[in-house]
Amino acid sequence: MYVVIGASGNTGSVVANTLLDQGKKVRVIGRHAERLQPFVARGAEPFIADVADADALTRAFNGAEGVYAMIPPMFKVRIFAPTSAPSPKQLATLWRRRESGTP
Ligand SMILES: NC(=O)c1ccc[n+]([C@@H]2O[C@H](COP(=O)([O-])OP(=O)(O)OC[C@H]3O[C@@H](n4cnc5c(N)ncnc54)[C@H](OP(=O)(O)O)[C@@H]3O)[C@@H](O)[C@H]2O)c1
Repeated sequence: MYVVIGASGNTGSVVANTLLDQGKKVRVIGRHAERLQPFVARGAEPFIADVADADALTRAFNGAEGVYAMIPPMFKVRIFAPTSAPSPKQLATLWRRRESGTP
């Protein structure tokens, strides 16, 4: 069984429909049952959850062979705001880790 976060979205729908085309068992995650309905009509199992709910995701991932772990777009979060950008020190640390092969 495969789990698809954001199955009703642009990318998740392609993943979910491709898996369903292949006859795979699919569990589709989203916040709105009606948006998951087209996949349920094709045999998918709906799972209503918000990705902010770790307990719900843990249950949703239970028994999965694979997960499309999409992080939904967060339009309310200014991800490019200076306050959320890595500091030069953080960037340098990341760069050194990459160069040294440190995970
Ligand atoms: N499509 C692009 O061209 C593109 C380009 C660059 C980056 N990206 C990134 O790729 C990712 C996927 O994009 P996309 O275009 O497939 O997104 P999308 O079409 O906006 O779909 C988002 C999906 O996530 C679900 N969702 C939203 N917030 C949720 C939450 N809090 N909990 C659970 N489900 C939630 C939505 O369903 P419900 O609202 O029903 O919950 C919907 O199915 C995003 O991170 C996006 O920023 C996309």
